[in-house]
Amino acid sequence: MIITVASFKGGVGKTTTAIHLAAFLQGQAETLLIDADPNRSALGWASRGELPFQVMDEWSEAIPDGNVVIDTQARPTPEDLSALAETCDLLVLPTTPDVLALDALVLTVEHLKAISTQHYRILITAIPPRPSKAGQEVKELLEEAKLPVFNQGIRRFAAFQKAALKGLPVYAIKDSRAEAGWQDYENVGNEILDIMEARALTIKAQEVPEIRDFF
Ligand SMILES: Nc1ncnc2c1ncn2[C@@H]1O[C@H](COP(=O)(O)OP(=O)(O)OP(=O)(O)O)[C@@H](O)[C@H]1O
Ligand SMILES: [Mg+2]
Repeated sequence: MIITVASFKGGVGKTTTAIHLAAFLQGQAETLLIDADPNRSALGWASRGELPFQVMDEWSEAIPDGNVVIDTQARPTPEDLSALAETCDLLVLPTTPDVLALDALVLTVEHLKAISTQHYRILITAIPPRPSKAGQEVKELLEEAKLPVFNQGIRRFAAFQKAALKGLPVYAIKDSRAEAGWQDYENVGNEILDIMEARALTIKAQEVPEIRDFF
């Protein structure tokens, strides 16, 4: 499967998300992360330490049958976004629970509506700890607006910054919240697998109309 991570605003956790979804998917099948951001943040991450999957800066012959995760640059043009959405199985749109990020997200979704794709999910990232209710409030807001949002959000933990610095996935970091951070991404990864499974079943049902008609 091909997962693309994109956003209209910078610094919302795209690279962190791409790295950890690739780490999760690598546990299922051979996975490749393509760093399509000219800043090469994912390649930088990989070069500082060790990741359990390959990171490349472009498509190559070596693309596995398994999974591809694409990390992109912030602020794609609407045309870029349409192309991204149409060439992947799922577009993941991280957003932080703050007003500026949400404004940028609304803009993104307007463009997605224009190309009428339902192949995307919003991921709320860097959720501040209690007593802040920002994460829950933003989730409810998005759900009320009937936008597809991952049930699991990603909490704000310093362990993610340490992971980027050390060039490792968060689970390999010595930090009391490292495990909790990894669990958040594991849950999102499992939601993605469920989405794909549900979609495969729908497609199968559409492929056999004669059987459906029979019953
Ligand atoms: N869940 C989190 N908890 C704490 N810090 C986080 C979390 N996710 C990301 N960060 C930090 O926020 C900053 C931005 O994250 P990241 O680089 O993943 O965002 P980005 O959307 O890829 O940014 P850019 O638009 O510059 O490519 C980094 O310092 C990163 O370590
Ligand atoms: Mg990035």
